[in-house]
Amino acid sequence: MKAVITAVGGFVPTSILNNKTISETVETTEEWIEKRTGIKERRIAVGKSTSDLACGAIENLMSNFEVEPSEIEALILATATPDHILAPTASKICELSGLTNAFGFDMNGACSGFLYALEMGATMIESGRYKKIIIAGADKMSSIVDYEDRNTCILFGDGAGAVLLERTETEYGLMKSILRTDGSGTASLVVPAGGSKFPASMQSIIHKKHFIKQDGSFVFKRAVEAMSSVSRDVLISNGLDSDEIDWVVPHQANLRIIKAVSENLNIDNEKVKVNIERYGNTTSATIPLCLWDYAADFEEGQNLLITTFGAGFSWGATCLKWGVMRERKSQKTTKTANKRRVLVPQLS
Ligand code: COA
Repeated sequence: MKAVITAVGGFVPTSILNNKTISETVETTEEWIEKRTGIKERRIAVGKSTSDLACGAIENLMSNFEVEPSEIEALILATATPDHILAPTASKICELSGLTNAFGFDMNGACSGFLYALEMGATMIESGRYKKIIIAGADKMSSIVDYEDRNTCILFGDGAGAVLLERTETEYGLMKSILRTDGSGTASLVVPAGGSKFPASMQSIIHKKHFIKQDGSFVFKRAVEAMSSVSRDVLISNGLDSDEIDWVVPHQANLRIIKAVSENLNIDNEKVKVNIERYGNTTSATIPLCLWDYAADFEEGQNLLITTFGAGFSWGATCLKWGVMRERKSQKTTKTANKRRVLVPQLS
């Protein structure tokens, strides 16, 4: 018994923050950002929270595929930017998306959250106790980004993606995964305050400790090493050579990281799915957004390699054989990503 993805959905807000606007607010240039990161623009959720983004992705999944909300038994929401520290954002999503027969919970694995959640969902299905689980990845990174810090504000964006995982006895579906963590990386990529270690205070606000901080070049090197080696290991554990991989769906943090990893794995760039130029790094949402963006390219029986790296440090990789999707409701897909509105951020 295996778990297979049978439907995908995605949602990005309409407001766009492009490199030009960023270059007018911090000391950088449009060219520098694009050359060093591959990012041209990112989406910003104005007046929306993470639950709204996730509900948008689930609504998109349900409006494109023959899936009833009442069929769903569980929702795992990967997010690093929950609506509240307490209560779970997944509860709100179950309510708003009409998942009346599902229980839901949040999982914070930072940029690896979606892959961790996918593995958790797959093992729940393989245990025989569950048949239909939605795995969503959603982040409103703009809520923790300091738009006066050129180290981070160039990278992140808001968005959400969701997949339906179902039981199958076919050859399709998720294969073995390898997931890793290394807590010694915590200080290199962190929102220092607002949690139990340093609760929110006047001081934390004054010193901007509620915003994301990172040692960019150190994270960059660790990401390349970790994603390359864990991908090699997962290929071996699944008995696959890199030339048997049809598509790579990597976490979208920096185009140079993605290119270095594919070079290390000896996989052609044409096989590597990239949408970072449009969305930036949406943390838990990058991988499901990429699956959603490129689902039309994936054919039944093709092998996908998914790999990620993020705060923690957290990282991992999995392989899957693309399966038969649920019947589509109509040929006309709802792609909210096509709507665009250029945003001028309000800096305080
Ligand atoms: N605009 C212009 N110059 C910038 C800049 C910016 N936004 N950010 C840094 N620089 C400058 C630095 O000051 C430095 O100048 P110097 O050589 O005069 O000292 C130079 O560019 C190189 O800095 P460095 O930090 O080595 O740049 P980089 O090539 O590593 O790019 C990041 C910076 C943040 C884009 C890159 O390190 C990165 O993407 N890291 C990974 C981040 C990540 O993935 N985070 C999430 C993990 S999931």
